[in-house]
Amino acid sequence: RTGVCIICAMQTPFPTLFKTAAAAASILIMNACAPAPEDNAGQPESETGDGDSNAIAKADFGETKAGEATEIYTLTNKNGLVAKVTTYGATLVELHLPDKDGNLVDVINGFDNVAGYEGDGNQYFGCTTGRVCNRIAKGKFTLDGEEYTLATNNDPNHLHGGGDKALSKQVWKAEPSADTQAVTFSLTSPDGEEGYPGNLSMKVTYTLTDENELRIDYEATTDKATPVNLTNHAYFNLGGAGSGTILSHELTLNADNYTATDDTLIPTGKIEPVADTALDFRKAHVIGERIPDKEAKETADCETSTLGYDHNFVVNGEAGTMRLAARLKDPASGRVMEIHTDQPGIQFYSGNFLMEQEGKGGKKYPFRGALCLETQHFPDSVNHEDFPSTILKPGDTYSTTTVHRFSAE
Ligand code: GLA
Repeated sequence: RTGVCIICAMQTPFPTLFKTAAAAASILIMNACAPAPEDNAGQPESETGDGDSNAIAKADFGETKAGEATEIYTLTNKNGLVAKVTTYGATLVELHLPDKDGNLVDVINGFDNVAGYEGDGNQYFGCTTGRVCNRIAKGKFTLDGEEYTLATNNDPNHLHGGGDKALSKQVWKAEPSADTQAVTFSLTSPDGEEGYPGNLSMKVTYTLTDENELRIDYEATTDKATPVNLTNHAYFNLGGAGSGTILSHELTLNADNYTATDDTLIPTGKIEPVADTALDFRKAHVIGERIPDKEAKETADCETSTLGYDHNFVVNGEAGTMRLAARLKDPASGRVMEIHTDQPGIQFYSGNFLMEQEGKGGKKYPFRGALCLETQHFPDSVNHEDFPSTILKPGDTYSTTTVHRFSAE
C-alpha cells in the first residue's frame, strides 16, 4: 500500500471521532501499520476482494426497530480517503478527507449506528432519497389518466419519497465489488409502495476512486410508467462535521437560472435568472455574505420563502452530459469539493432545519452547521410538462451519475 495509514493519521488529531467506528475503519490497515488489537469486539465480519488491496470491510451497523440486520462497508483509496456506506437507506455515513496539511476529518453529518438513523434527529442525512426526491405538490399527480395520491409528509406537500417506505428508510441489499472500492446497493420497491405505480428495481453504486472522487451511479427499471428522481442527501461541512457553521464556506454554482417557487417551495413553473440576486453563485461567494433570510424578506435582494438557501438551480449545459454543477471550498482547511453531474438541477440547501441534534461521536449539528448539494431533476417535475421529464417507462433504464471530486489547496 502506498497510501497513508488512516488509523495512524487519525489517532493524534481526532481521537474521539473514531472511538465508536474505529473497528470498521481499521479494516485494511492492520497489516499496514499496527499490531492487531487483542480485543476483537467490533472487528469486521468479513472482507471481500483478493488480498489486502481491494478488501472492503463489512461490519454490523445494528438492528432496525423492525428487527432487520444492517451493515456498514468501508471504502478506502490509495491516498487514505475513507467513505463508509450502510445498507440502511443506501446511506453515506462517513467521508474522511484531507485538509491542505493532509489531516483527515469526517465531513458529513450522520450517526454511529442504525438507531441514530431511525431517530428524530435524522433529516435524511446522507441517504438515497426517493422514489422522488424533493417535493410533489399536495402529494398528487396524474399519469396515463390515473390520479395518484402520495403522503403529504411536508405539509401540504410530498417530500423525499414519503413515509416509512421511502427509500431512505429501507434496508437495501449490498454487493461489494471484488476489484474496485465500490459497493452496489439494490432494492425493489413494489407496485403501489408509498403510492407510486410500478415495481421499481433500483441499484445505487458508491465508488471511491484513487483520483479522490466519490462517484454515485444510479440505475432503475420499472414494469409500469412511474416518476423517478433519485439523489443523495449528504450534509457537508468541509471543516469537519459538527465543527461550526458553513457560513464561511465559498460556493460556486454553474447555474444562470433557478426554479422560482411559491411559499411551500413548489415551483411556480418560472425559470428565473440568478443575476442580481443572492442566488448568483456564478463566481465564488461566501455563503454567509448574502444568505436569504425569511424574516428579512422585505429587504433581501432575493425573494425567499426559506430560512436560508433551499433552492433548485438549473445547471448550465446539457442535461444528460457530465458537467460541473458546484464547487465548495472551506478556506480555513483548504478542503475543496467539486460536484459533476448529468442531472438538470441541483438543490442548494443551507441546513436551515438543523437543530443542534447529536450525531456521530457525540458531535452536535447546529443550524446551518452543514449544507446539501442534491443533484436532481427539478422539484415537482411530474406536475410540470415543460420541465425535463422524470417519467420512467417499462423497457427504459433510468441511469444517472454524480461525481464528488475532492482536493485541498
Ligand atoms: C431538502 C429540502 C429541504 C429540507 C431538507 C430536509 O433539501 O429542500 O427543504 O426538507 O431536504 O430537511
